[in-house]
Amino acid sequence: MKESKLKPVVDRETIRRRVEELGQEIGERYQGKCLHIICVLKGGFIFAADLMRALPVSPTIDFIRLASYGGTTESSGNIDFLADLSDEVCGKHVLIVDDIVDTGLSMRALLDHIASLEPATLEVCALVDKSERRRVPIHVEYAAFQLPGGFLVGYGMDYAEQYRNLDALYVLEPSE
Ligand code: IMP
Ligand code: MG
Repeated sequence: MKESKLKPVVDRETIRRRVEELGQEIGERYQGKCLHIICVLKGGFIFAADLMRALPVSPTIDFIRLASYGGTTESSGNIDFLADLSDEVCGKHVLIVDDIVDTGLSMRALLDHIASLEPATLEVCALVDKSERRRVPIHVEYAAFQLPGGFLVGYGMDYAEQYRNLDALYVLEPSE
């Protein structure tokens, strides 16, 4: 994609309201339990930071880093773990927080990895669920937004490491 333009999809205020709502919903689900968030880097960092502050319960947090794109807009299907967890998972109530579940290939690999560490429970929260594009079945328990195709940037998400700082969601479109 040489020249590209940004088309607004979800504005900042809509994201803020939806993250507040999700925080309440997740807080009710995990009331009385120790919630352990696993944030998927890099794309999930802004969403996880805002979601964590919208929770009425006090979670712990750890980070894992996956990569499947390498500067393109199509998932390669080859998932690399670039940085692994630092905290114990066994027996914890784990919530994975990621930016997008698209084909589901990355989340499948991550769920298998974390499940093998024997958490007490394991659920998925994503800023965007592109469920129409799944290549493997993945259930997202908490999705802020259901969106169709189109390559999204902003609010932590990038194209070739650009646009993560934008405070709303945009579709990256080739310009004529
Ligand atoms: P999947 O393996 O195809 O489900 O996608 C894996 C990861 O690719 C997501 O967690 C995102 O980090 C990234 N990704 C997928 N779609 C987009 C997009 O539209 N914009 C930016 N990153 C994306
Ligand atoms: Mg991601």
